[in-house]
Amino acid sequence: MRLAVFDARQYDRDALEAANARFGHMLTFFEPRLTAQTARLAAAFPAVCSFVNDRLDAEALELLHGEGVRLVALRSAGYNHVDLEAAARLGLSVTRVPEYSPFAVAEYAVALVLALNRRIHQAYARVRDWNFSLEGLVGFDLHGKTVGLVGTGRIGRAAAHIFRGFGCRVLCYDAVPDTNLELETGVRYVSLDLLYRESDILSLHVPLTPQTHHLVDADALARMKRGVMLINTGRGALVDSRALIDALKSQHVGAAGLDVYEEEEGIFFRDLSGQVLQDDVLARLLTFPNVLVTSHQAFLTREALARIAETTLESVRAFEQGEPLAHEVRAEQVLRPVSAKDQGAGTRNDM
Ligand code: NAI
Repeated sequence: MRLAVFDARQYDRDALEAANARFGHMLTFFEPRLTAQTARLAAAFPAVCSFVNDRLDAEALELLHGEGVRLVALRSAGYNHVDLEAAARLGLSVTRVPEYSPFAVAEYAVALVLALNRRIHQAYARVRDWNFSLEGLVGFDLHGKTVGLVGTGRIGRAAAHIFRGFGCRVLCYDAVPDTNLELETGVRYVSLDLLYRESDILSLHVPLTPQTHHLVDADALARMKRGVMLINTGRGALVDSRALIDALKSQHVGAAGLDVYEEEEGIFFRDLSGQVLQDDVLARLLTFPNVLVTSHQAFLTREALARIAETTLESVRAFEQGEPLAHEVRAEQVLRPVSAKDQGAGTRNDM
């Protein structure tokens, strides 16, 4: 099948071309993001492949549909950037890659914790400047500290195992608590309020939905333990960045590791060195010595890329052959979410 791959970087090409040896699709790679402005590049392609910072709003989807596109194959787990109701109205099928490597993301969240705690980013810069002083680099033992995991799906569960391995006490919050995880690892499900109050480190692993948008706002931050380390490898808009800046300034938040940022679209995945950064909130975040920002790279391992490519091309194959789509995303799946702010158990909204 002819597949137009948008927002394609060299690592995407390498992985997709390697996996395609088994499928024989005709792949065409486009560097631009897929938005209403670039949708016409998909003319004569029945299928497009899109990544997290593309913008598949109603306008873009209508243009794609007008060009003859019938399948949107997301090479991501998250689908918050797609107007699924518009896709359904147009009869466009949307697939995703629900699971590729939870370990990639969980390990990355832990890497942010370790780097921030032991100030490896600062030590690296110092030593390169021949400054071998240890002043200001004091960290803490992870052993015995309390880690709060918000979201214990695939990634949160992998994170729970790792943190238990460090000897941490792990508190969890999820709309659908996993009793097996409690039995297997000794983590404890608690209310969001208790998790906020007791966690020395707090890591976010819920999807972005209307209910989790700005889950971590000024009020939530105020309820957290003073000096908390906040890690976000989920989606940028889980955190109100302005409220986070205030909490960092007042030193209520002790450190933040952010692999995602609510306004990352158009910034992350691009080389903007030599340009003037126009986003004042991101610019302010980058001034804090206790904040580590990375460019949505938690997924970026060889294993994850291979799995993403394989699952995406398999969805394209199934679509071409008129088979049921195992990883189809439909509007109704997202429209019955549970509020994290309810703090109670509910139904799973992110299958
Ligand atoms: P998953 O679907 O396995 O787990 C999500 C968990 O969140 C589920 O247990 C669900 O019950 C819970 N949840 C959903 N809405 C909730 C709510 N309102 N309140 C409480 N709990 C709620 O997803 P997975 O694979 O663990 O991924 C989590 C998120 O991580 C993805 O949605 C995506 O946004 C992000 N992600 C980030 C990557 C990166 O490179 N930085 C890569 C892959 C995923």
